[in-house]
Amino acid sequence: MKYMLIAGARPNFMKIASIMSAIDSHNQSPDGTDKPINQLLVHTGQHYDRAMSETFFDDLNIPRSDINLGVGSLSHAEQTAEIMKRFEPVVMSEQPDVLIVVGDVNSTIACALVASKITYPKNGNQKKRRPLIAHVEAGLRSFDRTMPEEINRILTDAISDFLFVTEKSAEENLQREGIAKEKIHFVGNTMIDTLIKHREKAKESGILDHLGLKKDSSIEKSRPADDYCVLTLHRPNNVDNKEIFTGILEALSIIAKQIPIIFPVHPRTMNRIREFGFENHFVFQTHGSQFTICNSRINCIEPLGYLDFLCLMSNAGLVLTDSGGMQEETTVLGIPCVTLRQNTERPVTVTHGTNMIVGNEKENIVNAALSQLEKFSPSGGANNQELRSSIPPLWDGQAGKRIINILADHICDHSRNN
Ligand code: UD1
Repeated sequence: MKYMLIAGARPNFMKIASIMSAIDSHNQSPDGTDKPINQLLVHTGQHYDRAMSETFFDDLNIPRSDINLGVGSLSHAEQTAEIMKRFEPVVMSEQPDVLIVVGDVNSTIACALVASKITYPKNGNQKKRRPLIAHVEAGLRSFDRTMPEEINRILTDAISDFLFVTEKSAEENLQREGIAKEKIHFVGNTMIDTLIKHREKAKESGILDHLGLKKDSSIEKSRPADDYCVLTLHRPNNVDNKEIFTGILEALSIIAKQIPIIFPVHPRTMNRIREFGFENHFVFQTHGSQFTICNSRINCIEPLGYLDFLCLMSNAGLVLTDSGGMQEETTVLGIPCVTLRQNTERPVTVTHGTNMIVGNEKENIVNAALSQLEKFSPSGGANNQELRSSIPPLWDGQAGKRIINILADHICDHSRNN
């Protein structure tokens, strides 16, 4: 059996790491020795900076991709089209049995769409016409079609054969859209598999020292300060419009008076900061030199690798973000999160987790950040512990294994029936 996995952009790497490791475990099991899975990793090259791509391969021990399509940054249409053009000959020549796509980025829909329409040349009495398509993290819906990711999610789900979901709401969304029940599998969260696996290792990261975030007390020398906020921002809705970005900056400068902000800056956001002339709102730090946190300021650093970022986030007092994955990671880590978006496709992070959805207006951001800080402070009340430990169902580190077991069983049945 040949499984082809697709990765393109930063949040994909954590998800495929769990699946690739589950395939390795399958191959080492008695079942796998009988029916080994040959895995092939295709990197579309949607993200290509070392800090946005290669460093994740090192941190997560993912083997280098077998094929890199080298697509790079383009408009949505050009990027999607270019991935499709470059992917078609690859899938035709490799003829995988299964194509695994993850998440909701342009690479996800581009590769799924190619695979859904191809026909392998007839070879003897070979039955397969195209690869079976498995979508990992299916069914999530923000119900906001101005988000390119929402379009990618709906379309990928519509053409996939296996829909692996992370939370119950996703199952309900898919059924409402008329997807057959037998295609939907509630398996848990591969991004959380990777977090659980690397949590201990992340504690060895030197990032807190490097950023000067360890308390300099002789009693608790190695205890992290726990009194900084981590910020990430990259959604076009937040950073591409100067007026909206200005409002967010005003909110951040109020919050920074209460708690210093560390901001690993996404390249898209860095481009906007330069374009809008916002540099003077920030303190910039380049890699290599020792960092001193400036209180009352927004401290910018370059994007971090997986282990450094996990360490930084795990020890933060607060996270402000517009990322999808970080809403889930903070829920599992029990770190208060304020999401600068109007909606979330991951409602379980609000019902079970630590997440608050506040949009991008100044007052709402400030009020939410201050209330989260209050609620989660050491004197924040009896519910504190309860909130911190509420992990969504099946987010237990086993999602990758469940996915591979389901695929292996199904394909075994499928070949018996043919
Ligand atoms: C993409 C995903 C988004 C995901 C995000 C994580 C889509 C539609 N969007 O958004 O869902 O949350 O990745 O980061 O697929 N750039 C670089 N170097 C890089 C990558 C990007 O400089 O390695 C810059 C380029 O200027 C590029 C811009 O960032 O034009 C945006 O990159 P792109 O991949 O188009 O979208 P993201 O905003 O990263």
